[in-house]
Amino acid sequence: INDQHLTSTGFNRVVVEKPFGHDLKSAEKLNKQINASFKEEDVFRIDHYLGKEMVQNILPLRFTNPLIKNIWNPKSIKNIQVTLAERLGVEARGGYYETSGAMRDMVQNHIFQIVTLLAMPEPKDLSSTSIHKAKQELLDSLVIPDDDEIKKHFVRGQYLGSDSTFAYKQEPNVDKNSTTETFAAGEIKFKKGPVAGVPIYFRTGKEFKEKKSRIDIVLKHRSNLYGQAHSNNITIEIEPNMQIFITINGKKITETGIRRENLAYTFSKEEKALIPDGYERLLHDIFVNDSTNFTHWSELKRYWQFIDAVEDDWRKEDKTGNPQIAQYLPYRMGPKEASNIFETPTEHWIYE
Ligand code: BG6
Repeated sequence: INDQHLTSTGFNRVVVEKPFGHDLKSAEKLNKQINASFKEEDVFRIDHYLGKEMVQNILPLRFTNPLIKNIWNPKSIKNIQVTLAERLGVEARGGYYETSGAMRDMVQNHIFQIVTLLAMPEPKDLSSTSIHKAKQELLDSLVIPDDDEIKKHFVRGQYLGSDSTFAYKQEPNVDKNSTTETFAAGEIKFKKGPVAGVPIYFRTGKEFKEKKSRIDIVLKHRSNLYGQAHSNNITIEIEPNMQIFITINGKKITETGIRRENLAYTFSKEEKALIPDGYERLLHDIFVNDSTNFTHWSELKRYWQFIDAVEDDWRKEDKTGNPQIAQYLPYRMGPKEASNIFETPTEHWIYE
């Protein structure tokens, strides 16, 4: 990259696909090399999740609906849950995956970007500078978990085999004694911002029951006259069905009691046909020099600090010869241990 001939007159932009480094140290080194030829504003660190329709819908949903904006606080929100589940295994990417694992492959980038959009304060305006400033304000208050918190609120797992599929350890180019995780769950918290202190739980894994990327905003439930009411959870489904739904209570028709229905925000077939693919959208943004939906170096640095803390703890555990890696059956909901990461016994995964 230090080659003078890479850049010329006109505009010079460089697009970098993830993984941007392997940890903070290697990311810093890579960044330094890139900065030798390109200014920060000409570096586009791509995260294709930021190009997805429903991810781009998070800020408008939060900031244009008083109904939602007014409850976006620790008084109303019990927790937030982000699930990025995949049906596929590591396929032919065992070699790459061994250097990565779910934490680096999905949490360091996609999950953190989604979480940042969910927890950031309202930007001053919609310019790229203001959005990155609001994101940074939030990320400065990111809580880096200590070993004790990692033991309590994080789980790593590996998929087992079945009659027709390999266990992760049997996949091509994977070490038979690998401790690389194909599943990770954990907790993210911020000290500042509209949801300061609210637990944000995440999980991601290969060989789940189905492909599903979704966010559940779990609202606090107050007992009421009818006793059986459900909490008004808000779900943003990123994929495969792009939709938002809000759980709402009403009366049953012919008997006493409360029924639960979903108010849904969906797209017609014609509208779906208009929605560009994430990469398509982001490549367009690069040409028009819009860096709103790209990762700034200072954001990336915070994400790596968090991931490094978890990775360091897991590597220490590996060295004891007794790593806690939950094994899970393919094509179900991941390891059962992921149900134990919550702060209180009344919390549970909404998407089961
Ligand atoms: C990539 C990961 O960034 O995202 C892959 O490297 C993963 O392992 C993919 O399969 C998931 O993206 P999507 O858009 O299919 O949810």
